[in-house]
Amino acid sequence: MIEFRQVSKVYGKGNKKALDGLTLKVGEGCVYGFLGPNGAGKTTAIRILTGALEATDGTVLVNGTDVREHPLEVKRQIGFVPDSQDMYDRLTGMEYLNFMADLFGVSAAERKERADRYLAMFEMQEAVRQRMQSYSRGMKQKMAVMGALIHEPKVFVLDEPMVGLDPKAAFLLKEEMRRRADAGVTVFFSTHVLEVAEKLCDRVGIIHHGKLLAEGSPDELRHRMGDESLEDVFLEMTESGAEAQ
Ligand SMILES: Nc1ncnc2c1ncn2[C@@H]1O[C@H](COP(=O)(O)OP(=O)(O)OP(=O)(O)O)[C@@H](O)[C@H]1O
Ligand SMILES: [Mg+2]
Repeated sequence: MIEFRQVSKVYGKGNKKALDGLTLKVGEGCVYGFLGPNGAGKTTAIRILTGALEATDGTVLVNGTDVREHPLEVKRQIGFVPDSQDMYDRLTGMEYLNFMADLFGVSAAERKERADRYLAMFEMQEAVRQRMQSYSRGMKQKMAVMGALIHEPKVFVLDEPMVGLDPKAAFLLKEEMRRRADAGVTVFFSTHVLEVAEKLCDRVGIIHHGKLLAEGSPDELRHRMGDESLEDVFLEMTESGAEAQ
């Protein structure tokens, strides 16, 4: 379970709110898509959720635990795929997976089973022996996904995970996200790909200027707006949203 309660964020000494009283809840077994235009606050919210950034105000709970009060306990429960992959270039893919498995205390038997399964799934068995600096963007993205899943997190958080993935890899990732959710994991991700949101998500939230404008199942949102496509709903809401507030 993920819960944002009145979360606000002001960067530095500015007065512009990157998040402005964001409140939302995502239950176990749910795939939640976080939509919003560039600069809406998606990455900011995700970084606060994962403990990488502190909120200015408000509370974030992960399975009932306050991120601010117990950051380590929360981090242990989360598998996180950030929006850029440029951190561990000097490691081989396998060293990176082992590093992540060590970090989360995954046993040798479990890490082998999971690594074998994911490497086969993403066709990375050969490449995993190479240093990650030689990887394409999509290959790095695959490693980030595998690194996030190696400890079988209860909460799976991804920031624009489809970026750089080829159609097959994107399909496999979507399947895995659904499988995780069906196994009771809370899956929370941001995306600009509305077809992905429409097909994959149980619920979507549209955020604009740091506020949640609308929330519901893709079908509910479409019906509320007169059976339009999710794209139309998104465009209409984020155009009129600023004035509506
Ligand atoms: N490190 C930072 N310092 C100052 N302002 C920031 C910083 N990071 C983000 N912002 C500002 O916060 C707001 C929200 O940015 P954020 O990256 O959360 O948006 P986003 O929804 O993830 O956008 P995108 O779709 O482009 O990834 C923007 O106005 C941005 O300029
Ligand atoms: Mg972002």
